[in-house]
Amino acid sequence: MKDLIEKIKSEKETIDQLIADKIDEIRKNSDSSLNTIIDSMEYSLKAGGKRIRPILTVRVAQMLNGDLRAASNVGLAVEFIHTYSLIHDDLPAMDDDDYRRGQLSNHKVFGEGIAVLSGDALLTQAFEMLTELDLNFEDKLNIINLVSKNVGFKGMVGGQSLDLKFEEKRIDLPTLTKLHSYKTGALFKTAILGGAFCAKPSTEQKNALEKYAEQLGLLFQITDDILDKTGDQKKLGKEIGSDEKSNKSTYISLLGLDEAKKEAESVAKAAKEELTIFKNNQFLINLIDYILNRDS
Ligand code: IPE
Ligand code: IPE
Ligand code: MG
Ligand code: MG
Ligand code: MG
Repeated sequence: MKDLIEKIKSEKETIDQLIADKIDEIRKNSDSSLNTIIDSMEYSLKAGGKRIRPILTVRVAQMLNGDLRAASNVGLAVEFIHTYSLIHDDLPAMDDDDYRRGQLSNHKVFGEGIAVLSGDALLTQAFEMLTELDLNFEDKLNIINLVSKNVGFKGMVGGQSLDLKFEEKRIDLPTLTKLHSYKTGALFKTAILGGAFCAKPSTEQKNALEKYAEQLGLLFQITDDILDKTGDQKKLGKEIGSDEKSNKSTYISLLGLDEAKKEAESVAKAAKEELTIFKNNQFLINLIDYILNRDS
């Protein structure tokens, strides 16, 4: 596990550098009157997330002998979209959280208007980056289609709408699992299949990766629910107790801590089973344990 943490740290640093370079490029090619919105995008992008999604994109492409440069750029676009989702998620109209990635939330520094707009800008910037991928036309179009389907109302945005709809309401476990699959699973699917589309996956490989992504996304959100109750604010970089504050149904509120942990273990096992058909699957298998045991 120590080895894996070191590897993840070094891959995170590579992604951090790509993000810094992209911001420099954006700034260089933009009118200086647009500094505020660019500062706001930079503020949240550079705040130091774990970069799990782009790491997955690159590692899946690597497992399938794909184009790693294209995969890094797909991963970067996914991280831009993820960062937008966090800025909007923290707004007073949504979870109303003041801290994110170890610093004040975007709207606490730039105001709600700019925070809404920098989310919009990150999302559209991600699509611009995808159109610039150095891939053949068909592969590029498949990736853009994958991203569009999974981040909009049929995916992450749809999940966030269900999250708001069910605030203050008690829902059953299948409904919560569905909510998690939309709000978090869909972006994991984007990251993982986005990496696969930088290679030439067989139908069998694509189907297995899709199921792996569903399980991994669910696992990630169950552990997020657990950490919201039991985590260390400093390590997490965001305030704990947010779900309880908004009366959300979570794996903890529906199952209790012990059962939620057991469920996480069983989802982790299911995720591992989906990877058995692949050679060179060790990193992605280890990553499941890393997510299961994460403290940030
Ligand atoms: C937080 O995602 C939002 C969820 C989907 C639970 P991460 O825990 O990956 O956030 P960062 O990118 O590390 O800040
Ligand atoms: C957010 O889920 C998932 C997104 C689509 C942003 P949460 O609201 O649980 O994420 P955190 O706990 O604020 O990071
Ligand atoms: Mg939320
Ligand atoms: Mg939140
Ligand atoms: Mg949460």
